[in-house]
Amino acid sequence: MKIKFFKVGIALMLFFSLVCFMSFELIGGWNIPPSAAAKKNPVKSDASSKANGKAEYLKSCKMCHGAAGTGNGKMAGGSNLTSKEFKGLSDGAIFYQINTGKGRMPSYKSKITADNSKWNLVNYLRTL
Ligand code: HEC
Repeated sequence: MKIKFFKVGIALMLFFSLVCFMSFELIGGWNIPPSAAAKKNPVKSDASSKANGKAEYLKSCKMCHGAAGTGNGKMAGGSNLTSKEFKGLSDGAIFYQINTGKGRMPSYKSKITADNSKWNLVNYLRTL
């Protein structure tokens, strides 16, 4: 009797690990639409834009992404914004990520409403 429960337990564990694994696969990528990635950054990356982006970053993003952008903020687990992969993204793609969010990364579509503020953030992230 005990052995039977054990087997059912193992089978259930295997089944749920498989389900978890599959859902991770599904939510793994950002799926950035090509039109969003191709969007041009209309805000010139000058000192004032980067300073505004930095102020917004310290207020809204640092707690997860860390002061240096390496993903070790107080609420750790924000991804590393200094990685090679990240640096390879277009401005439009980063703008899309900030607007849309994913998993624990919040969507800032309605939290930071001015598009310019989000482009300022993109310009600042480029300096990390
Ligand atoms: C609550 C924690 C949290 C906050 C606050 C947060 N992020 Fe994130 N961010 C994350 C996590 C977690 C990820 C990774 C999401 C994933 O890939 O599933 C992420 C991913 C990103 C990415 C994509 C990185 C990549 O490698 O492709 C960008 C860009 C980003 N965040 C920018 C920002 C900006 C800008 C802010 C502030 C306006 C911000 N984040 C605020 C947690 C956070």
